[in-house]
Amino acid sequence: MSNEMSSREIQFRHANSGDLSAIEDLLRNNDLPTEGIKEALAHCLVAETQGQIIGAIALEPKGRNGLMRSLVVAGDHQGHKLGTALSSKIVNAARLLGIERLYLLTTSAEAFFAPTGYRVVEKNRIPEAIRDTEEFEKLCPHNAVCMMRDIRKEPIHATNDLLQMQPTVPGARLWAVSLKHTMLTCFEVEPNSRFETHSHESEQITMVISGVLFFQVGQVIHRVGPGEVMAIPASVQHAVWTESEAARAVDAWSPIMAKYDSGQQQG
Ligand SMILES: CC(C)(COP(=O)(O)OP(=O)(O)OC[C@H]1O[C@@H](n2cnc3c(N)ncnc32)[C@H](O)[C@@H]1OP(=O)(O)O)[C@@H](O)C(=O)NCCC(=O)NCCS
Repeated sequence: MSNEMSSREIQFRHANSGDLSAIEDLLRNNDLPTEGIKEALAHCLVAETQGQIIGAIALEPKGRNGLMRSLVVAGDHQGHKLGTALSSKIVNAARLLGIERLYLLTTSAEAFFAPTGYRVVEKNRIPEAIRDTEEFEKLCPHNAVCMMRDIRKEPIHATNDLLQMQPTVPGARLWAVSLKHTMLTCFEVEPNSRFETHSHESEQITMVISGVLFFQVGQVIHRVGPGEVMAIPASVQHAVWTESEAARAVDAWSPIMAKYDSGQQQG
């Protein structure tokens, strides 16, 4: 992001239902369709300054493919790289979901997308799941250009706004970022939570950031405090718990733990 943008204190975040009418207004003001945006809100990012939504972009995940849609920047904020920043964030959001190819339709912005790796594709070479989306079937005029970007080999820059804690396991919330062979998770474990004795094929290396995690391996209990690391070899039985204090920890896993992976990354 450019210094110009950060000095204007623009925040990026996931959209919520309270943002819908502001996003629809932005789309209408820029002659973009609003149909289907409500359904796409779960994967919609907004840019906000001083409580006002000034930009948006949405993603419709379809397995390994994704439709990027509804990129819009408010008229008086255009030309300051906000569209570029939103486009970049949606690529990272798509990578976090394990998406390999991003598709979009545009009538007026082909030259905006081309420098970032989008290529024009024939409509008959577009995967069925993308062609079946409302945007493809109804929203876009027949003269729209379809573009595709292969994002499999792109790095993932997961900014704070993209790392959403999920209640994936009882007693804890977590986010996960993974490539093909390696995964990093961040756990927030509630006070007095316990993961009963278990083992897994993945090696686990855990670093406690705050609070204390207790690991029991055999008869030995390890009290692992902030800044300390516990490394558990594959298939070794262990139990983990917190006492009266919540704990936050990051964990490296290899191979990846599929049950923590929202996207089940392949690339
Ligand atoms: C298209 C849009 C999102 C771009 O956002 P923005 O914040 O103004 O764009 P940026 O400042 O990041 O522009 C980056 C570059 O793309 C160029 N650019 C911007 N809009 C463009 C367009 N429609 N076509 C071609 N190039 C464009 C800019 O001139 C700039 O070029 P530079 O790097 O040489 O200076 C914004 O203009 C918009 O909301 N337009 C109306 C809605 C729309 O067309 N959305 C796209 C739907 S597919």
